[in-house]
Amino acid sequence: MGNDKSFLSSTEQVPVTGDLPSHVAVIMDGNGRWAKQHNLPRIAGHRRGLESVRHIVKACADNGIPYLTLFAFSSENWRRPPSEVNLLMELFTNALEHKARKLHENGVCLRILGNTSPFGPKIRMLIQRAETLTRDNRDLHLTIAANYGGRWDITEACRQIARHVEAGQLNVEQLNEETVRCNLATAFLPEPDLFIRTGGEQRISNFMLWNLAYTELYFTDTLWPDFDLSKFEDALSSFAERQRRFGRTGDQLGDKRRVRNA
Ligand code: IPE
Ligand code: IPE
Ligand code: MG
Repeated sequence: MGNDKSFLSSTEQVPVTGDLPSHVAVIMDGNGRWAKQHNLPRIAGHRRGLESVRHIVKACADNGIPYLTLFAFSSENWRRPPSEVNLLMELFTNALEHKARKLHENGVCLRILGNTSPFGPKIRMLIQRAETLTRDNRDLHLTIAANYGGRWDITEACRQIARHVEAGQLNVEQLNEETVRCNLATAFLPEPDLFIRTGGEQRISNFMLWNLAYTELYFTDTLWPDFDLSKFEDALSSFAERQRRFGRTGDQLGDKRRVRNA
């Protein structure tokens, strides 16, 4: 495992300013507050949030953005009242049951990211069925993070690496960043280019801690159920203005910039 070439991070290559992101990762926050604003139960906000999911999935497919990762349920969200957790599980079950075929027809490859073992047998079966159905699709890689936590992911990777060392398959001196990366549950994903958090909070809340090292961060007060196509365009426009440097100086990179829609 690990050689000089694979040690290079994917952030070595600086993308041209103005390009669209290849991977967008989103913390879909604010469903509860949206419901409160509308005098509705919190679950109505989560239900409405599914509409925003539909819009952003379509927008990514239409714009040729190949990777979209959505944070749906964190490893800390079990701390919520059991009634809300149960309703969220119901919503998740329903979405898996009724949306997988449509996603498949639209060329979407669906993956669930996270520790699925605490989910009931029905959810686990539906996850397996949806992933198998859509696994060869390449138009859009849609990843739903469910019972996911960045610290969980890094801890599990450490456990896996320790097993390799214990079994004599890996020498400790050979361990490098690529060893860690490829043992993460997110190993099948490229690094996110753009991170979006709706709902006004400016924090990461244990999402993709390893992967966000060089991601452009975008925070908006818009609540997730109100996050429509024009709000997504705003995030893309903000991203298009940013010069990524990955440690270099701006002068080293020159003013390479792609003009969109020109
Ligand atoms: C995000 O919306 C969805 C989940 C965490 C499941 P919230 O439910 O956190 O909404 P707010 O933050 O309470 O408004
Ligand atoms: C983060 O939102 C998790 C998801 C959107 C799934 P939270 O609402 O759980 O985050 P905190 O608790 O406000 O940090
Ligand atoms: Mg929240």
